[in-house]
Parts: sequence; C-alpha cells; structure tokens
Amino acid sequence: MKKLTVKDLTAEEKLRLLCSEGFWHTHSLGGKLPQVTVSDGPVGVRKSEYDENGVWKRDIPSTAYPSIQILANSWNRDCARAMGESLADDCIDSEVDILLAPGVNIKRNPLNGRNFEYFSEDPYLAGSLAYEYIDGLQSCGVGACLKHYYANNLEYNRFEQSSEVDERTLREIYLKPFQIACKAKPVSAMCSYNRINGIYASENKKGFDILRREFGFDGAIYSDWEAVRNRTAAAKAGLDIEFPFNQKNYEILVSDYKAGLLSDEELDACAARVLKLVYRCAEMRKDRKIKRTKQERLAVARTIAQEGMVLLKNEGVLPLCKGIKLSVCGEFAAPGRCGLVAGGGSAMVQWLGKFFNLPQLLGERLGSEVKYEAGFWPKGIASNWQKAHKALLNAAESDVAIVCAGTGSDIEGEGGDRESMRLPAAQENMILETARRNAKTVVVLFAGSALDISAWKDKVSAIVWAGFCGEGGGEALADILTGAVNPSGKLSESFPLCLEDSTSYGAYSDPCVSRYQEGLDVGYRGYDRQGKEVAFPFGYGLSYASFDYRELKLSVEDKGICVRFTLSNTSDRDGKEVAQVYVRPMVSFVYRPEKELKGYVKIFVAAGKTVSAEVTLGTDAFAYYSTAEDCWKTEDGIYEILVGASSRDIRLHAK
Ligand code: BGC
Repeated sequence: MKKLTVKDLTAEEKLRLLCSEGFWHTHSLGGKLPQVTVSDGPVGVRKSEYDENGVWKRDIPSTAYPSIQILANSWNRDCARAMGESLADDCIDSEVDILLAPGVNIKRNPLNGRNFEYFSEDPYLAGSLAYEYIDGLQSCGVGACLKHYYANNLEYNRFEQSSEVDERTLREIYLKPFQIACKAKPVSAMCSYNRINGIYASENKKGFDILRREFGFDGAIYSDWEAVRNRTAAAKAGLDIEFPFNQKNYEILVSDYKAGLLSDEELDACAARVLKLVYRCAEMRKDRKIKRTKQERLAVARTIAQEGMVLLKNEGVLPLCKGIKLSVCGEFAAPGRCGLVAGGGSAMVQWLGKFFNLPQLLGERLGSEVKYEAGFWPKGIASNWQKAHKALLNAAESDVAIVCAGTGSDIEGEGGDRESMRLPAAQENMILETARRNAKTVVVLFAGSALDISAWKDKVSAIVWAGFCGEGGGEALADILTGAVNPSGKLSESFPLCLEDSTSYGAYSDPCVSRYQEGLDVGYRGYDRQGKEVAFPFGYGLSYASFDYRELKLSVEDKGICVRFTLSNTSDRDGKEVAQVYVRPMVSFVYRPEKELKGYVKIFVAAGKTVSAEVTLGTDAFAYYSTAEDCWKTEDGIYEILVGASSRDIRLHAK
C-alpha cells in the first residue's frame, strides 16, 4: 500500500478522515489506508460483538486487571509498566490497535463516579504511573489514548458542565498529569465532554495548543464518544477525529468547508495528523508479538492487586492464623458477576476466568472450616434478615469474622456520581452487628473511591482495602489476609472523615458550572493547609513489617538534587515500603501548598535488613506556574525536603 500524504487526497477524502468509520474504527477511505481499531480501556479490553444488523450482542471476555485506583495504590512503576505490556497482549489477541486508556484526571471530589478509573488526587503520582503504563503498552506495539482532556472531574451533567478553574491551578494540578504522561509519546488523546471555563473541551483550542506545543504531544486528538457539538469549530480548534461516526455532523462539516468556514490549511492539519496516526499504528503492528500467555497475564493482574491493596487498620488480628474458625459474609467475597467488584460503564470488562471464592481460598490456605453467608443486599437499606441472622450466628461462633462490603457498579460508574460517601445502610448495620458479636471483626472493602467509614471504623479490629480488585483479586486478598504476601499498598487519595470535610465541598456548583474555588488545595494539599484531621491520609498504608527511616542526605548533582536515605526493616517479616518525598518551600513570594509530592520509591527490604534508597528531584520539582509571566518558574530560596511513610507521617527532613 503506497503511503499517502494529504496532497494525494481529495477534499472529500480529507473530510472523511475527520470522522470515524462506525463506532470503533478510523476511516480507511475504502481500503486506501490502513484502518485503526480502538477499544476501551483502561483495565482490560472491552471489545464488543455485534450481530449481522450491527446490534450489540456482548462484550468479549478479556483479562480484567484491578482498577486504576488499585494500580495507583501500588505506587509501583514496574506494576504500571507490566499492566501496559500485559494489556498489549490482550489487545493483540483482540486485534485492537489503540487502547482507549489511561485516564489521568485528578480526583477532586470523592463522589465522582469515575474516580476508580483515575490514578490520584496528586498530579505527580498520576502522571508518573500513567507514563509507565503508556510506555509499557506502546513498547509492545499497541497505542495508548490519554484521556479525558481536560478538567473532567465529575460525571454530573457531564456533557454541559463548565469546569471553571484558574490558570495556575489548571497548570499545576489538572494539566500536570497529562504533561508528565505525554513524555511517553502516546499516539492519541481524547478530549472530554465538559466545558473548561465555558468552552467545550472538543473546541478548546487553547487546551489543544498546550498539549501539542508545550507538552510535546505529537499524536492525533479525537473526541470522547459524542463529545462533539460543532464539528467545524472542533476541527478549527485542532480536534482531528470525531468518534463515533455522526452523519449529521459530517454533512455540516462538508457544507461548512464548502462555505469557506473551514480553511484548507485547517483541514489539512487535521487530516495529516490522522494519516500520521494510521501509518504509525500500521508500523507498530509490524513488531507486535504476544509476550505473555493468558495465565501469565492473570498473574500480572494478581501481582498488581497484591501490591495495590491497602491495609488500613490492624489491631493484631491479621494475618490470620492457621486452623482458626472463620466466618465470611457479604456477596463481594464470592461475586457472581463482575459488576459487584468493579466500577460500571465503558471501563467494565467481562472476566476471562472464573469468579473467585474468598471463603474457599481462605479455607484452603488456613486448613480450616470457613462458614460463608451472603448476609445482606449490597445496595439495600435493610438486610435480608434471614440471611443476615445466619451470618451473625456464624460470626458469633467464629474466632475471626470477616465482613466483605463495598459498592460495585450499581453505585460507582460512568455517567453519574455517588450520592454518598458512606456504604449503604444494610452494610453498615451488618458491620456493626458483626462487631458486636465478634471482637475480632475484619472488614474488607471492595470499592473504587474514598469511603466515609466513621460509623464503624473504631468498632472493628482490621480493615483491608481490596478495591475493585480484578480477577486476580481473590487470590491476592487471600494472600494478604493469610500473610503469604505482606501488604504494601498505600492510598493514592486521602480519605476525609466525611464528605463535608473534602476539599471541594462547598465550592459553587450548579447544573452548568463547577467552580474550582479551592484552587491548588486539592486533597492532601487542602487538608494540610487547613490542618484538618482525616480518616486516612494520602500515602497511608500499613504493613505486617515495620520500617525505620534514617540518614537523609541531600546532594546537588548534574541530574538534579539527590535525596538519599536508608530504610531498615525492623521486623521479622520481609516487606516492601513506599517512601515518599515531598517538597516544602520555606519562603515564597507566591502562594504555595504546604508540601507537594515530587518523588517516591517502593523498595523491598528483607526482615532485619537495611537498604539505601535514592530519589532524584529535577528543577521542575521546585517550580510553580507563574500566570504573570505565563511560564514555569523556580524561585531561589530554601526548600525543605521531607521523606515520609505517608503525607502525615514524615520521618526525615533536611533543607
Ligand atoms: C467514555 C470514554 C470511552 C468511550 C468509548 C465514553 O463514554 O467517556 O472513556 O473511551 O465512551 O467507549
């Protein structure tokens, strides 16, 4: 096939290229061009099967990895890379050229229905892990699509909401993860549905210019599905492809072009980028080779779950001892459908393998009898009393009682936000009633976004965040509960005490407008500023081991400021620790958050051993965005470098 340039195409062909072919393909111009197939993302390939009339039949099963929230809780760059690589194999199996992932939007509001799809409240953590995911995926010949660009942080009225954000906050918080991830050169990006300061993301030329000119993005930009309002305005702004195909929009585009409303230069710019995309994908296809068997991909899913689950509380009851009498309740422990332990919408993947059965897995590992009862309806207010009664009897007769609670796709999903940060009443009651009957109650949470657990947190002995754990999640959880794996995940988002405490709460919002009044003070930046107590801080997570931080040394080297310290495992268990490096400006002529995450490292430390750790900070770790001069600036001055086990557990500091 001869490689074409825009000069080889007629105006009509170029206009065609600006619209997709059907739902999931770029236009091939009747076979003149390679055709690119795209598919969701981000935690598995969601490719659909259609009947002969084009009616959707089913989503084809594919490896279901843990949610991006769990990946982010791993703070493990290798896990993010492995997830990208492994997903590439799934894409190759499904003949998908571009995975519509990852999404790097900031978790501004705990209620956002899509939080489980996103990495963090912190732009550095989100961007750095997305970078690895994209690079992993693309190094195996499958394209990534960075989404949803930008300031798309709530689902409520998502097609119309205007996110009203000041420039500095946009640059430092909401655009920053896109900027970092762009270093991996994603082949494509997707605009969001919302408006940004009044202008639809699909027509936001300023945003597209920042992406291309400042972040070095050299791929094609397409619309989120049906995010285009005015195809001509979008093309003029630099939106290359509209997805899915929309006959009316296409006709308007053609007539606008004929009327001179879209110039040849503008048309050529978009068409050239589409050509670049399809040839780039065709080139990438050439070196594609499956690297992992399906079994090995499931192992990747399990490893990520092991690394990303977070031990939130443990008063000595975990890990579980062999031979104990155990009761488990809650359908989440033995889900009969993937939606129970996953968020809903375009990110939901039909599992390749069987659903896990936690009671059975625990029984096998502990060599003990495990009594299981569903106990309650996950979404309900009242419990199913007969089942609840049985579950409570089991709990009363056991050494340890586990309650599996959570949300699932009925509560968390695309297209809507959660109504509350709390668990449904039936679940809270079940936890409280169980705790009344068994002093050693362990709660395992299957959810995708911060929960308000104040109603029962102090009444139970242990809490494990299993998240939307994917299909390796049952095994991973059993590994953690029994101590075969030492938990090492840390929260990638703060858990405020309640919704009213969250940093965006009380900011002006109406059906059309969300004002980001808290500015830079999102998540821990805001809680730190206000000195507010939280249920669990950003970066928090327990281990069965304990770690000592010592000997912090800073040195200025060519590569940047080197932060070196030692980590000792003072326990008799091997473990991994996530050490976090925050920067705090001591004096500044502009407003700065108290401290900001600028580096992290996850390290294995064998029992009783000491290892050295190193994190390098570049100039950008000290920079802020000057709106007066429209550029990043780094002030001379004194900065404090904080090294901690969480944002509220700083162990070392130096200036
Ligand atoms: C979602 C995107 C997704 C697309 C295609 C949209 O509704 O917002 O994240 O990639 O659908 O399924």
